[in-house]
Amino acid sequence: MRLIQFQFILIFISLKKNCFGNEEIVTLANDENLKYRLHYHIMASSGWMNDPNGFSFFNGDYHIFYQHNPYEVTPGNVHWGHVKSKDLVHWKYLPNALTPGEPYDRNGCFSGTAIVDGNNLILFYTGNVDENNSTNYSSQNQNMALSGDGVKFEKFSRNPIIPFPPEDGGSAFRDPKVWKHEDNWYLLMGNQAKENGRVVLYESKDLKNWNYIGVLASSWNGSLGYMWECPDFFKLNESYVLIFSPQGLERDGDKYANLYQTGYVVGGYCYEYNHFSYGHFTEMDFGHDFYAMQTMETPDKRRVGVAWMGMWESNFPESEEGWAGALTIPRELYLEEGKLIQKPIRETKLLRKSLLFSKLITVNGMEEICELKAAEIDIDTKLCADIDEFGFVLDDQEGLVVKFYLNETDKTFNLDRGDEDPRKTGFEELLYLKMQIFLDASSLEVFLNDGEITFTSRIYPNQSPLLSIFSRGSCALDVDVKIFELENIWEKCN
Ligand SMILES: *[C@@H]1O[C@H](CO)[C@@H](O)[C@H](O)[C@H]1NC(C)=O
Ligand SMILES: *[C@@H]1O[C@H](CO)[C@@H](O)[C@H](O)[C@H]1NC(C)=O
Ligand SMILES: *[C@@H]1O[C@H](CO)[C@@H](O)[C@H](O)[C@H]1NC(C)=O
Ligand SMILES: *[C@@H]1O[C@H](CO)[C@@H](O)[C@H](O)[C@H]1NC(C)=O
Ligand SMILES: *[C@@H]1O[C@H](CO)[C@@H](O)[C@H](O)[C@H]1NC(C)=O
Ligand SMILES: *[C@@H]1O[C@H](CO)[C@@H](O)[C@H](O)[C@H]1NC(C)=O
Repeated sequence: MRLIQFQFILIFISLKKNCFGNEEIVTLANDENLKYRLHYHIMASSGWMNDPNGFSFFNGDYHIFYQHNPYEVTPGNVHWGHVKSKDLVHWKYLPNALTPGEPYDRNGCFSGTAIVDGNNLILFYTGNVDENNSTNYSSQNQNMALSGDGVKFEKFSRNPIIPFPPEDGGSAFRDPKVWKHEDNWYLLMGNQAKENGRVVLYESKDLKNWNYIGVLASSWNGSLGYMWECPDFFKLNESYVLIFSPQGLERDGDKYANLYQTGYVVGGYCYEYNHFSYGHFTEMDFGHDFYAMQTMETPDKRRVGVAWMGMWESNFPESEEGWAGALTIPRELYLEEGKLIQKPIRETKLLRKSLLFSKLITVNGMEEICELKAAEIDIDTKLCADIDEFGFVLDDQEGLVVKFYLNETDKTFNLDRGDEDPRKTGFEELLYLKMQIFLDASSLEVFLNDGEITFTSRIYPNQSPLLSIFSRGSCALDVDVKIFELENIWEKCN
């Protein structure tokens, strides 16, 4: 009894003092029971998290905030959790930046973004109230909060800065993205009009007074969902990219397989007339857990994004450990022939602790490699004409078998977690295949051919899974395999 008490106090104090800026409200399970805890991803310190918010660079640090319920491992009571980093890969926790409680945000500080203006880091977020009983603002309204030190934020005294949706818009009105163009500030957010998702644009000279400009893009006749969440809009290689997360798309074969999607359109934009002409909507990721990507421009002008590595219908088995939810690794975005490419940012290499395996192997059937917990696995091969399937398996030897493979017969990539809910997407002719795989204790991110296609899913092995590489077909493949063990950024208190 005394021993147990002693252990508990030790853990509590060390977590509180060294690793977590916040007072722990939900207590994490004892160390030995934290088999799903991630090593190098941003995740809730404890409690629940979803969308990334306020991705920014201020006074030498990168900041990421996230939708966070510190009281439970389920959604609700939405705060903004906060982490910062010097290099985009080593993060540390800061105290929650936003706590609901003002009349206009008493039921949650919903998603938004951050900008730097003068000496301030300024957050823009949606205040949410369940009971629409104020004449001064609607149930979703837009607000700002300012900080001089990047740690403590003060809500603006004249919030909400945008109290009501546009006249023709519904009360679903959220997730402001703010940026500067020439002398003007712009704010874009998700809205709904007559069951059609859309994004609406505002303009300001001083960040406090906003003029409604109009609709920037819309699901005109409902073909692209009833609501668009978490828009992001930026220029990339002379084109404009709008990333958003539509709700209400019906599953269409292999497409739109998750409850909600995250994807993009690319086009040309003219500020003067708020005219955006764009092409078709494309999903950004084909795994089970990817939502609400938010981007920022780094000081060296790279466009980098992170997304929630989760989805509303997912199970979050880690909640039994006292936490739920994580973000993807940061990804650099490129446009190639109108297609958005996602590559792990180059700083990801800083996580490499040791080279565990580096060999050219011949694969003809199943080749066992090794057990892995947190690793980068780089697999390159030239495909031969008679190959039917090629891929890898992660087997925890206690019943979980995760299989990722190329099927040459129907020209698809497939992710099968053994749960009767596989994901797949098609490809064109392929001569080479390059797979860059990020495995963490309970997550899997696969980047194919330098980020042309990605699959992001949570997986829940009971113990470090055994990696095997396999092929089926009448030719043997020469496969270059490199495996790096990756650091646990949360292990050392920082
Ligand atoms: C609106 O209703 C909530 C919940 O009943 C209450 O706490 C709040 O004071 C009300 N606000 C106004 C402005 O009446
Ligand atoms: C609404 O605005 C009026 C006028 O500014 C103010 O007197 C009143 O207290 C406000 N009500 C709420 C619930 O904020
Ligand atoms: C809340 O009230 C405002 C002002 O009366 C109205 O425009 C808006 O549609 C209402 N929203 C909801 C969710 O009832
Ligand atoms: C809207 O619906 C019409 C007819 O149902 C269809 O022809 C048209 O392509 C749709 N527009 C868009 C943007 O999907
Ligand atoms: C895209 O933009 C980046 C950064 O400005 C530049 O380095 C790259 O060459 C451009 N690529 C193309 C295809 O224009
Ligand atoms: C590969 O595709 C073919 C054709 O759709 C299908 O019959 C077969 O089951 C697939 N194989 C696997 C392992 O998915």
